[in-house]
Amino acid sequence: MMANYQDIIANYKDKKGGIIEAYHALQREFNYIPQKAVAEAARVFGVSEAQAYGVATFYSYLSVEKRGKYIIRMCESAPCHVAGADKVLKAMEDYLGIKVGETTADGKFTLELCECVGQCQATPVITVNSQPVFNVSSEKIPEILSAYK
Ligand code: FES
Repeated sequence: MMANYQDIIANYKDKKGGIIEAYHALQREFNYIPQKAVAEAARVFGVSEAQAYGVATFYSYLSVEKRGKYIIRMCESAPCHVAGADKVLKAMEDYLGIKVGETTADGKFTLELCECVGQCQATPVITVNSQPVFNVSSEKIPEILSAYK
């Protein structure tokens, strides 16, 4: 059961720098910071909505774009690239029906790229909510992704 954004924000109400911690907590829960949560944060932390939005978009690890339950990332650094990351990425785009940077209509998957995750012994590598999946191939993509409900 998902926590609601009001409760999450309220937890950080009296903390110094609480707005950033609240955003992190929101992103852990929802994978992004919903617009209505930005408005709530502005109210709770006593700043304008523009300021609250500014904080949310300043840090590259925070996202205000709607993202899926599962964030799938393709490693695009050289070793994975040489091992066929392009083909794997294409297979994921075909399977999910979206392009890099997009989220499926059902809100389940977001497709992104990432740098080397330090698992070059098992290229190509994808990550699912930051957990690496090793030795991926385009043929294995339907089986791998269908396991996520
Ligand atoms: S280059 Fe992909 S995991 Fe290192």
